[in-house]
Amino acid sequence: MCGIVGYIGEKNSVNFLIDGLKRLEYRGYDSAGLAVLGDNENNVEVIKKNGRLDELERAIQKESPQGKTGIGHTRWATHGKPSEANAHPHIDCKRKIALVHNGIIENFFTLREYLEKKGHIFTSQTDTEVLVHLIEENFNGSLVETVRKVTTLLGGSFAIAVICSLDPDLIVAARKDSPLVIGLGEGENFIASDIPALLQHTKNILILEDNEIAEVSRNGIRITTFDNKPIDRKVFEVKWDVEAAEKSGYEDFMLKEIYEQPTAIHNTILGRFKENNEIVLDELALSEKEINNFDKVFIVACGTSYHAGLVARQTIERWARLSVEIDIASEFRYRDTVIDNKTLVIAITQSGETSDTIAAVREAKRRGGRVIAVTNVVGSSITREADGVIYTHAGPEIGVAATKTLVSQIVALYILALWLTQTREQADSSIIRKIIEEIKSLPDKVKEVLLIAPHIKECAEKFVNCADFLFLGRGVGYPVALEGALKLKEISYIHAEGYAAGEMKHGPIALLDKDVPVVVVANYSSVYDKILSNILEAKARDAVIVAVATDGDENIKQFADYVFYVPETHELLSPIVTIVPLQLFAYYIAKKRGCDVDQPRNLAKSVTVE
Ligand code: AGP
Repeated sequence: MCGIVGYIGEKNSVNFLIDGLKRLEYRGYDSAGLAVLGDNENNVEVIKKNGRLDELERAIQKESPQGKTGIGHTRWATHGKPSEANAHPHIDCKRKIALVHNGIIENFFTLREYLEKKGHIFTSQTDTEVLVHLIEENFNGSLVETVRKVTTLLGGSFAIAVICSLDPDLIVAARKDSPLVIGLGEGENFIASDIPALLQHTKNILILEDNEIAEVSRNGIRITTFDNKPIDRKVFEVKWDVEAAEKSGYEDFMLKEIYEQPTAIHNTILGRFKENNEIVLDELALSEKEINNFDKVFIVACGTSYHAGLVARQTIERWARLSVEIDIASEFRYRDTVIDNKTLVIAITQSGETSDTIAAVREAKRRGGRVIAVTNVVGSSITREADGVIYTHAGPEIGVAATKTLVSQIVALYILALWLTQTREQADSSIIRKIIEEIKSLPDKVKEVLLIAPHIKECAEKFVNCADFLFLGRGVGYPVALEGALKLKEISYIHAEGYAAGEMKHGPIALLDKDVPVVVVANYSSVYDKILSNILEAKARDAVIVAVATDGDENIKQFADYVFYVPETHELLSPIVTIVPLQLFAYYIAKKRGCDVDQPRNLAKSVTVE
């Protein structure tokens, strides 16, 4: 998720570009840049810097670029580590065209090979750079018609803004699956990824929809579809203030990020399954020989990432038939673990900066293990310690409580498990194909769950004064129970324990009475009947039961006082849908208690100390 801005009018565009990028830093902040069509009509002038926006501001104070047409970008790296070379804008070989992009170009590798054969010189490792060279290669004198042609060559998601010294007085914008809005001024117009960048300058907005192109000049906007059908888009006046706009109208970043989960899953899947269902994990750089050499997997992580690892353990064992151990990183690093060059170590950390996990990775490598990191931050510390990296493309997660990064981690780990299965030939292609089709359906299934948020809110608010909760689950429902308990305790400060349901009778059942609600992950599964027995044991102690159940399960109503229904899916994939009601349950209880859900007390988004 990156931030794009553009300006065309009578003022120096640089002032709006910097102000707009500041408003969009929550969308990504590992590097930033801008390009203007200056007085030298021949070339575009580009300034870009690695690091936060203030690096770019310092460079601009020195070089003071001038230009009434300009575009800017703040980056959240997906392909190519954070660096000045990989920062946007990217330019063509002749420095006539500059482009900024938010999204993922799935077929960039093929396009890059084609363009290099045509003699184009690339200066970055990004997927984005292929776009500006494609425009250069196809330029026919009209920037908008060239962009229209190029959009037909692209796979993946993109929101782009382009300027060209050969067709000045124009910004061309186009979008597919990534957001782009246009602000209308007096003798000036604006472009941005998101509304917050515009609100200081205009509240009159045009939303660009998927598969549309906008020609933005200082006196007007023309919107057409990719296949050149004119669009008469209604202007709307924004009523939000800036802070609300950064949260896209949601009350908190955590709620926004819960609702971003379908997109986060979609972007994590993007480009990883070929037409023939071959799994693509090029970034891992592990040969088939090395994969078949592994005789065990060891997963290390902390907190929510550890819960993702517990799901991965069951999927890797079930599909790839590899023995899997798992431990929390702070324990792992002080154990005398049995790790050697036949051990594949998987380190899961959304921030890529958790010191316990980094230390565990160093210890695992010291013992000869091969390490793969699963992380959400390109260029984070863990990526320099690991032998290979799988990126979750969840975009920046601002809320301290992990939500969209969790589901992205689990999906990335499903893909890794399938890749190990495929490479080790542990399952026939028909089984893998069915699982892949089901994984592709997960974004829509999560959207279905989000529709019951009002019901969850109404239920959650009844529990706002409870002092203790027990969360129960079996199989992959057990890590979901652990995660549901963690969400509740970290944002509402209510004591909550996650437990394996079968373990309840070995102690925690002593806690139960009418004042200790029990939340149970009770969707259809191979252990469903066992879960029902556990619910009965809890009810016999007067506990109030909240159950997450599968759509259509009327039976559960005899056992549970409240039911959150989720769509059916493959048993091992079910955490992706069953965790969502528990995230919302925790969120609404915490909100009712007046807690700061985005910045809970005593917590940090990234724990970089022991
Ligand atoms: C989860 O909501 C918490 N923010 C915390 O448990 C977190 O998952 C843990 O600190 C690990 O962070 P990481 O994924 O960045 O390593």
